[in-house]
Amino acid sequence: MNKYIEKAERTHKLTEDELVSLLQDPSSSGELAISADRVRAKYVGSGIHLRGLIEFSNICRQNCLYCGLRRDNPKIERYRLSEAEILELAKKAKSYGYKTVVLQSGEDIYFSVKVLTNLLYKIKEMDLAITLSLGERSLDEYRAFKQAGADRYLLRIETTDKNLYEQLDPGMSFKNRKSCLWNLKELGYEVGTGCLIGLPGQTLHSLAQDILFFQQLDADMIGIGPLIPNMDTPLAFAAKGDFDLTKKMVSLLRLLLPEANIPATTAMETLKADARVIILQAGANVVMPNVTEGDYRRKYALYPGKICVADTPAQCRCCIGGKIKSIGRYVAQDKGFRSHISTRSY
Ligand code: SAM
Ligand code: SF4
Ligand code: FES
Repeated sequence: MNKYIEKAERTHKLTEDELVSLLQDPSSSGELAISADRVRAKYVGSGIHLRGLIEFSNICRQNCLYCGLRRDNPKIERYRLSEAEILELAKKAKSYGYKTVVLQSGEDIYFSVKVLTNLLYKIKEMDLAITLSLGERSLDEYRAFKQAGADRYLLRIETTDKNLYEQLDPGMSFKNRKSCLWNLKELGYEVGTGCLIGLPGQTLHSLAQDILFFQQLDADMIGIGPLIPNMDTPLAFAAKGDFDLTKKMVSLLRLLLPEANIPATTAMETLKADARVIILQAGANVVMPNVTEGDYRRKYALYPGKICVADTPAQCRCCIGGKIKSIGRYVAQDKGFRSHISTRSY
């Protein structure tokens, strides 16, 4: 066994150089996946948590160079769901057996504290856990959402390379992104973060630093995904993120943050058929099936080739259930909060 993989499985610690050595070694992928799968089984078990994703608005005030929702993209057809539509989707998510809904959008300030907290109270009455993914807000806004029932918040750091971050997310500050994450932590949210793999100019050292940052934050969830270039953005001609590198990152994340919830993300499946099944066997334990309906799925166009755009939420539920069964795992029946079995003795 590779000595660094053995060390990671035993101690859940690696240095930046050790991480880079594994990321650049083309032969480490299989062994990393097997080791991460063992750690996954030991710390979070065989249940897979399904979180129903509701993409409720594609309106965004930000201008991230990689994202189709960026404000300067005139080609995207914008939409914003009404409160009644969002509640209807949450109700349906519940009927498919999902225990969590993830409310995701661009940075759409129409969803003020008043609008969102009203919505959150109503969703909470359905006995669902709520994850928010709405981008950067103030401490007071995050506090109000938490008090109204939000349990978790997803805010990817995207990259811990400050210069790269500020170049790719013009008008946004790396310092503020980080302080949003620490604010969320302080308010008692389960905090999810993550990064994009394959950003132009990103190095393996930078990816290793991303992992160490997630450890430092003690992230409860880490969602990573390959960059998929979007023709309607300034990164139209960038290279796609590499699937194998993404897979290795997932395995390393499981080894270094053994209790975290780690999704097999949709963007991975855009790169490779059956990617989610592969990633679920390389360290991941969460899937976020889409519950957005009809044409809105297509219009939430972060990148091209998004899977499931022509499928209904019921088809996705059935499809993902079958995939989970096919690898000898099962759909977890609890809300899937982060486990704390080790009390960080590693
Ligand atoms: N607006 C919120 C934010 O940025 O945190 C949440 C929604 S945003 C669309 C969710 C994630 O989509 C981002 O964190 C980013 O990593 C990912 N994303 C955007 N454009 C992408 C692309 N072209 N390829 C892969 N992932 C992309
Ligand atoms: Fe807006 Fe999020 Fe896309 Fe950036 S990644 S443009 S903040 S939706
Ligand atoms: Fe949507 Fe497979 S998860 S069709």
